[in-house]
Parts: sequence; structure tokens; C-alpha cells
Amino acid sequence: MPTSPLADLAQQTADLLSTISALSTLDALRDAEASLTGKRSILASLQKSLGTLDPEARKAAGAQLQEARRVVEAALEERRALLRRDARQLSLEADRLDLGDVIASDVRWPLAVGHPGLIALTQRELEDVFIGMGFTVADGPEVESDWYNFEALNIPPAHPARGLWDTFYVDLGEPETVVLRTHTSPTQIHLMERAVATDSLPIHSVMPGRCFRRDTPDASHLYSFHQIEGLVVDRGISFGDLAGVIETFTRAYFGPDISSRLRPGYFPFTEPSAEFEVTCTICRGAGCRTCSSSGWLELGGCGMLDPAVLEAVGIDGDQWSGFAFGFGIDRCAQMRHEVSDMRALIENDVRFLGQFS
Ligand code: DAH
Repeated sequence: MPTSPLADLAQQTADLLSTISALSTLDALRDAEASLTGKRSILASLQKSLGTLDPEARKAAGAQLQEARRVVEAALEERRALLRRDARQLSLEADRLDLGDVIASDVRWPLAVGHPGLIALTQRELEDVFIGMGFTVADGPEVESDWYNFEALNIPPAHPARGLWDTFYVDLGEPETVVLRTHTSPTQIHLMERAVATDSLPIHSVMPGRCFRRDTPDASHLYSFHQIEGLVVDRGISFGDLAGVIETFTRAYFGPDISSRLRPGYFPFTEPSAEFEVTCTICRGAGCRTCSSSGWLELGGCGMLDPAVLEAVGIDGDQWSGFAFGFGIDRCAQMRHEVSDMRALIENDVRFLGQFS
């Protein structure tokens, strides 16, 4: 009797099952599938060989082979399900977001940490320079009555000099007109009034703060800007003291190669008055487009306190004298850091802000 083509079926099935259980990835399983159960598999070639058997034996062998195929295919499906479960578990592990890690790591910290802007930094630097020169720092209101912003500063209601300040009026009514301060000079008046009331002269103070004017913003004007005011009231103060303070400040803030000069000017609250200029910070005095080839840039105004101002606050001009000055904080920032357009100071573009962290 010829040997049955299925004589080794039990062993062959066992081999197939152990091959299946050794498959470790879904890709490997997919690659092996054709050789395990497909047309070129051992099961398929055994199927073909059954044709040589007589019908009775073929029927019995066919049933045997079908059972072997069922076992192999079931093992294959079971293995596929297991590998799928493992793969899903791995991908969940990989995608896990550990919030503890996110918070602990500098690199993945999701929020940018802010810092003071250029105007605030400049104000602090200016205050530091003046503190180093023996000045104190004082503060005043941004909304002022007409008296503080104009009248006490020797600018009566119909005075033509009012045209120098493009004023935002808050209230034109009775009993008094209220404005957004057009300069920091009214803080001088508050300081002198307080010193008189508390009998605490002399005064050596600077007063930084925000001011407002009806200007259309352009490269060198903002309708809301910052000034720093200086005030000295003491005995025997001269114009030489004023010039010395301006020059010392200029070198301390802008650097030793930048100096100051005073040119005759006009302000109702000082007599004599001067405009003060500093060496052009772009060309260092050589002459360029920014300084109209003069080598100098105007920074602010100054002068000796006008007797009318001392009288308005009740200070005896025979015993006390003094000087005042005022200039733009934004302008200092612009000149020192060569900011071509002042609007960059208030636009809050992070590419600009980030340069001054
Ligand atoms: N307040 C003036 C302005 O904004 C600047 C100024 C000039 C201030 C002369 C002063 C000064 O204290 O003495 O235009």
C-alpha cells in the first residue's frame, strides 16, 4: 500500500504552528501569510497531492487536511489579534503626554516669559543716573487742572505760548478746566507747594511720567509719550549749576564721547531759558541726515526758575533760586538705541521687544 501524502501531516501542522507563534510583528505576519496558508503553502501542495488517491481515501484525507488548515488559520488569526493589541499598547505609551515633564522642562515651557519694555527700562536707567547725582524721584498726576498744567507755570489763559502744547481737554467747564498733562512740568508745582507746606526746602528731584498731546503719531511723535522733569530749588543756585547737571547727566547716560550744549530758547516758566542739545548719537558729531549735518540733536528744555513761578507757589525768591529741565524719555530710548521710528516703542511687536530683554 502506497504511503499516504498526509503521513507527516501532524508534524507539518506542528511546524506551522510553531512558526506562527514565533512571528513577532504584524509586518512579519503579513509577509509570512502567503507561505503559511496561501497557494504556495505546504497545505496547498498537500491538497493537490490528494488527487492521486482513490475517492474513498481522498474524502477521508480531505477532511483531515481541512481540519489541519482550520487549526493553522485559527492560530494565525489569534496571533494577529495579539500582535495588534501589543502594537496599540506601544503607540499609546509613545503618545503619552506627561504634564509633569512639560512643566519641568525649560525647553518645552509653553509660555514666553515677559520683561519690562524699552520705555520702562529707559525710565529706570534715567532715574538711576539722577539718583547717583543726589536727586530724589517724585511722581505726579496725569490729569491736571489748568492751574497746574499752565497758570502756575506762568502761562495765563490767553497767553500765546499755550499754542506750544496741543492739549487734550478733559473738561472745559466751571469751576476749572481739566486737561491731560501736556508735560511733566506741573509736577514741579506740586513739589514746590508740598515743600512750602511742610517747610522742607531745598528740593533736588526728578519726576518721570506719561504726558499727552494732540499729535498725529509719526516716526518722531506719539500722542502719549514720557518725559522726565528735573527741579532744583536751593540757596545760591546759578545757571552754571544747571549747565553742570545737564553735562554730567549727558555723559553718564549716553557715554563719555557724547556732550551737551545749551542754546537760547523760550519757555514761560524759566528765565533765562535754553534748549539743550547733545552730540548726535548716530554720527557722533560728524554730521549726518538725522542731525541735519549739525552734529547735534535737540533733547529738551531748561532754564532758571522764573520769579513768577516761585511767587505762584509762595517761595521767597530773595532767599531761594533754582533751575528746571525737562526732556523726553522715549526720545532718549530712540537716540540711545537708534530706533528709527518711535511708533516701534508702543506697537508691542515681540521681534522688537525681544531685543531689550
Ligand atoms: N515742559 C517743557 C515741554 O514739554 C520742557 C521744559 C522746558 C521743562 C524747560 C522744563 C524747563 O522744566 O525748564 O516742552
